[in-house]
Amino acid sequence: MEALTIICREHADLWRLTRAVDAVAAELRQGNTVDAAFFEAFFDYLESFVDRYHHPKEDDVLFPRLRERDPEAAPLLDRLGADHRVGAERLAGLRAALTAVLRDEADAEADLADRLAAYAKAQIDHIRLEETEILPRARKALTAADWEAIDAAFRDNDDPLFGPHPRIAFRALVHRMAALAPETVGLGGHASGVLVTDTAPEPLLRVTGLETAYGRIKALERVDLEVRAGEIVALVGANGAGKTTILRTLSGVQPATAGRIVFDGEDITALKAGHRVRRGICQSPEGRQVFGPLSIEDNLRLGAYTAPAERRDADLDRIWAMFPILHEKRRLPAGTLSGGQQQMLAIGRALMGRPKLLLLDEPSMGLAPLLVEEVFALVESLKAAGITILVVEQNAAAALAIADRGYVLETGRVTLTGTGADLLASDEVRAAYLGM
Ligand SMILES: Nc1ncnc2c1ncn2[C@@H]1O[C@H](COP(=O)(O)OP(=O)(O)O)[C@@H](O)[C@H]1O
Ligand SMILES: [Mg+2]
Repeated sequence: MEALTIICREHADLWRLTRAVDAVAAELRQGNTVDAAFFEAFFDYLESFVDRYHHPKEDDVLFPRLRERDPEAAPLLDRLGADHRVGAERLAGLRAALTAVLRDEADAEADLADRLAAYAKAQIDHIRLEETEILPRARKALTAADWEAIDAAFRDNDDPLFGPHPRIAFRALVHRMAALAPETVGLGGHASGVLVTDTAPEPLLRVTGLETAYGRIKALERVDLEVRAGEIVALVGANGAGKTTILRTLSGVQPATAGRIVFDGEDITALKAGHRVRRGICQSPEGRQVFGPLSIEDNLRLGAYTAPAERRDADLDRIWAMFPILHEKRRLPAGTLSGGQQQMLAIGRALMGRPKLLLLDEPSMGLAPLLVEEVFALVESLKAAGITILVVEQNAAAALAIADRGYVLETGRVTLTGTGADLLASDEVRAAYLGM
């Protein structure tokens, strides 16, 4: 069943692309300007990428055999086929929407953002249909001889779209995209070379050989980790793995006993916590830790205690705009807020420090499912606004789904790392953290 591995790897790539589409939609909604050249390159990219990524051997070998062995799969396969036709139409719609934006037509930006989001959603539905319905059926219905033939076909893929020539054309397109993309879209860092990897700049945060201890008990062992500007990086692991300890060591409240932390080109390993805040490392701690008796506004002001007063006022206004409910209640003690609102307050307080790197410790902890979604949507919108994020979560599925990359931590060591999509798809992670 090597073919299934190939297909799932391709899905992981597609998933990442989909997240990029979503990020671009979010940027548009934030009122960022539309750069025609960027979008044209982006749409060219989608067109080439998606067409090429639809594995031809699926249509040639896998699906016909599945139709034969499992007639009930036919309507599902028909739906997949229809998706591919609709996909082309959707892309044409995107190009038309871009033209409308360039002509300054009313509501054109919102329309483009909606269409991008719809495109991403369709992509996700498509992958889900394949992974949750079609491939399981194939696993069940196809015989060993079928798989032998299918695997052979996948291995011996001489489709001209996969040869060296299109690969060069494709690279050229990607480089054009990378040159045009706004930094926050964060298309970089793709393992299979489909997206740009060879021009990656020095990461915003580089941690090497980091260790720390509580008394004589080592809590971190030779942790290597990096976060590139514009990324969401997720740190997942069981209770007690050392996730919080990493964040505390990064923000400087827990001293490192070995290793180096380089942030924004500077070695900050020996810097005190306050100086790290000033350089843009701001943390929203585990359990939120808002000051209950203090008013909501004062809690926020505390997040910028080192900043000049006039800057604080301006930043407060931005937080109010982001969280109207906090503004409404600003004079009330923070302790009167619900759990979800306190989480917003804790994140707002960290934002008051104008983070370049935002550290979030279990932002979804103890929240109802709907609020969990809202918190993760917020994290994505912060990324779209240009903030780099390192997020610690026990809710590994949700965190990896929005993460560009992730690290799995076990008893103080990094045991696994990869793109969010790769980790989500990895058997180890699925078994250990996703209960699958
Ligand atoms: N203040 C402390 N004193 C002693 N041991 C601690 C302290 N904080 C955490 N630990 C220990 O360090 C390990 C990692 O804890 P922590 O970083 O809180 O894990 P996580 O956030 O992944 O749940 C655990 O074994 C925990 O018991
Ligand atoms: Mg913790």
